Amino acid sequence: MKAYFTRAYTISASHRLHSDALSAEANRETFGKCNNPHGHGHNYRIEVTVGGAVDAATGMAINMATLDAVVRKEVLERFDHMNLNLDPMFGDRVSTTENLCIGIFDLLRGALEPAELEKVRIEETENNFFEYSGS
Ligand code: NI
Repeated sequence: MKAYFTRAYTISASHRLHSDALSAEANRETFGKCNNPHGHGHNYRIEVTVGGAVDAATGMAINMATLDAVVRKEVLERFDHMNLNLDPMFGDRVSTTENLCIGIFDLLRGALEPAELEKVRIEETENNFFEYSGS
């Protein structure tokens, strides 16, 4: 019997959308004001969905304290109040929220066993949502 649990976290971080694979002009055309050299910030709402068998003794798929500890260590301490572009994760990929979803998924994947990481969903603004499920 598998159940799913989603927990939300919030970080504040800055970034600049810029691709080394594009010319300065193409960067401006592609990313518009998000290519502004001084960057800009977001309050990212990160939703982590975990699935697993419900433990007969605890009644839980994963202990929330365990999930919090992993997310704090792998994600919050790394990205909160940081410039995403300076993180090695974005050394060779653009700091879009698509890539942030993928990166966070990869950081958490395997760290939550025996529960399984199902999905990372990030709200970048009230209108923009991104998600990644591992493939
Ligand atoms: Ni942005």
